[in-house]
Amino acid sequence: MPGIVLVGTQWGDEGKGKITDLIAQDFDYVVRYQGGNNAGHTVVHGGHKLGLHLIPSGILYPTITPVIGNGCVIDCKVLLGEIETLESEGIATGQLRISNNAHVIMPYHLDLDGASERRLGNNLIGTTRRGIGPCYQDKASRMGIRVQDLLDEKIFREKLAAALLEKNSILEHVYQMPTYTVEQICETYLPYAELIRRYVIDSAELLNGAISDSKWILFEGAQATQLDIDHGTYPFVTSSSCTAGGACTGSGVGPTAINRVLGIAKAYITRVGSGPFPTELSDEVGETLGREGHEVGVTTGRARRCGWYDAVIIRYAAEVNGLTDLCITKLDVLSALDTIKVCVAYECDGKVYKTVPAQQSVFHHAKPIYEEFPGWKTDITECRSFYELPREARDYIDFIEELANVPVSMIAVGPDRDQTIMRRWKPRH
Ligand code: GDP
Ligand code: IMO
Ligand code: MG
Repeated sequence: MPGIVLVGTQWGDEGKGKITDLIAQDFDYVVRYQGGNNAGHTVVHGGHKLGLHLIPSGILYPTITPVIGNGCVIDCKVLLGEIETLESEGIATGQLRISNNAHVIMPYHLDLDGASERRLGNNLIGTTRRGIGPCYQDKASRMGIRVQDLLDEKIFREKLAAALLEKNSILEHVYQMPTYTVEQICETYLPYAELIRRYVIDSAELLNGAISDSKWILFEGAQATQLDIDHGTYPFVTSSSCTAGGACTGSGVGPTAINRVLGIAKAYITRVGSGPFPTELSDEVGETLGREGHEVGVTTGRARRCGWYDAVIIRYAAEVNGLTDLCITKLDVLSALDTIKVCVAYECDGKVYKTVPAQQSVFHHAKPIYEEFPGWKTDITECRSFYELPREARDYIDFIEELANVPVSMIAVGPDRDQTIMRRWKPRH
């Protein structure tokens, strides 16, 4: 039974969009199960880059039904803008489906995201300020507004009035910010309801029906393992369940619907926003990785922090996601370097850690222990089989595979769909 989860193993931007777009052709459904437009997934279409924030990266194939699951949070304006952009590129979006139980990002969520970050000062999380955290906060406190609520004007007005009682008080008294009236919000949101109504379905019903019909489903994770609300570097995380388990709760299928979990890992690491990052490089090498890898955020345009590949967090990702396969992306970026390092363990206060330390303060002070590899210093962007790679690059991949104890099934050597080495990836087995 063919359900596969694709998940980020580091701090995001591993190339999930590219790989989803590449393997999506084997699937009938591509499902986003968490997050919102904090994500920025790049796919290359007709020679130019498209940044998708909410719509699953499978949208480029007319045979695929892209689904935004109940675990997602939706900014209607962004969603409609994305639909418009895709249509203007000649990409049909009529097949998109949106869960009736996904939560809606409201204007006060955007205000509160920005305001709470300002209040944290130097301790800020560095969120994308897209209202993600405050929207999930309302979902958990049962004050959220779901897509189905938005579609029913009477219910929407009632729920909005109840939410504004509290939100206005916080906006006014805690942050000294302008407040909202029900009418003001209805004026913009009720027209959104009419525009999105045609896409709305029950994702659990749709996907379980698909499973009964033996259809193939790809669950496209956003963000990544280290940004997961439970398993990431809390509080420097996002507010959703990015890890593979989130695919079930965020779409309405059971764990038995999933038979493979493909982890995406960059051949080095990047992180945007604050929080611990043991292998971060603040030297020339870090600059080279940023420059050669074009490491600028798709959503916020922020420069990404860069560092060496960290095998400790990949081992952790292998465990918490139950990875069956690994895909190493951006191997070509390392071609610029004379020597390449891999973090194999951490040292803190004289103790060696081969797994992610359970105590956060240890992780914050962890010093990486590296193994060094010679670089290959040749262009590998035209390589299409493992044996076309230089020996040094093959040794690097073999080492990563051994440390992760998960097969490296795919290797990406450039941003285009075809710049990928399909080493052991056979989804239909
Ligand atoms: P996502 O959030 O995981 O989908 O990743 P992003 O799209 O935010 O960032 C990945 C960036 O790397 C995008 O600009 C991709 O086009 C690019 N990319 C993906 N794979 C490769 C690769 O193997 N080599 C290079 N050079 N670029 C890649
Ligand atoms: P994709 O799917 C990288 C980070 C933010 C911040 C933290 C919380 O493209 O990999 P949020 O706005 O979610 O409350 O911010 O999470 N973050 C991401 N970093 N890639 C992403 O998505 C991210 N989505 C959120 O920078 O540190
Ligand atoms: Mg991204």
